[in-house]
Amino acid sequence: MSKRINILAIETSCDDTCCSVISDDIILSNIRNTQKVHGNYGGVIPEIASRNHQDNISKVVNSALRASKIKKKDISAISYTYGPGLKGPLLVGSMFAKGFALGLNVPIIAVNHLHGHIIANFIDKPHPRFPFLCLLVSGGNTQIVKVSDYNKFELLGQTLDDAIGEAYDKIGKLLGFKYPGGQKIDYYSQFGNENKFKFPKAHVYNYNYSFSGIKTAIKYFLQDKTHKFIKENIQDLCASIQKCLLGMLLDKFILAIKDTKIKDIAISGGVACNNGLRNMLTDISSKMDLNLFIPDPQYCTDNAAMIAKLGYIKYLDGDFSDINIDVEPDLKY
Ligand code: KG4
Repeated sequence: MSKRINILAIETSCDDTCCSVISDDIILSNIRNTQKVHGNYGGVIPEIASRNHQDNISKVVNSALRASKIKKKDISAISYTYGPGLKGPLLVGSMFAKGFALGLNVPIIAVNHLHGHIIANFIDKPHPRFPFLCLLVSGGNTQIVKVSDYNKFELLGQTLDDAIGEAYDKIGKLLGFKYPGGQKIDYYSQFGNENKFKFPKAHVYNYNYSFSGIKTAIKYFLQDKTHKFIKENIQDLCASIQKCLLGMLLDKFILAIKDTKIKDIAISGGVACNNGLRNMLTDISSKMDLNLFIPDPQYCTDNAAMIAKLGYIKYLDGDFSDINIDVEPDLKY
């Protein structure tokens, strides 16, 4: 019987300490430890994130190994995120991955976090066919990417300032929600009237985005409003804000779909958990006769299963990394 390929993957690019084990293309475990402490500060504090990764990483790796029932001696390679992300958190994951790999005498596979998010669409079946268009929406990125192969990515458009997740979280803070507020806005939206309040949409050239203006517009809108007003109108406010944010997001994505004539479309990143976005895309896909792919929510937010999946693909290609490879906080495609 041929030996199974077992990859242990680590992801620590921001505030989630994650580990996953994949065996012959099947995800056996996917553990994610979210650092709740950042909620007290209204955003991720890099130094605190690094220290928490140091405290959490052994426990998270052991849980992932236990859940997978794979023994350390049977691990074929370690894949990990080497960028983009916060430098300190990336260093914790990278050092752990390298030390673990050296101890086990197995190769390392350095993975680009953005590629991981996109390739998350291949974890479950059915998956998109190349070329497909991916809308990558997270706390750090808002991008439209043409994907022609597992390692061929063309950035068609992106945000010129805040990412959409960042806008959700900053607006959430203005509404009084703890960080990250994106999920709360999405939750209250379902009960509200999306036409009650009107907020301005930013129009940017080509397939690019700008989300900082709407955040400022809402800040000014709320500055003379009482807590009572916000509380009484929270559902309508959230629904109107979500309509505006998702409208901007989808206008450009639809433009790219029409221009490229690509029929397979996918989304990924933490904001891909948004119910409003999922519903709107499902509607658009049926009207435009598109094939829509959305990863399971556990593979949308930062996770190590996507790093394991891409690690597995790279392992089959013999695409290993040198042990001296450094982290790259500003890594692009
Ligand atoms: O991909 P992710 O876990 O981390 C990175 O930013 O890389 O994404 C986190 C982002 C946060 O901004 C969070 O508010 C947003 O995803 N998010 C949502 C929802 N769930 C998570 N935004 C809107 N609606 C949601 N349901």
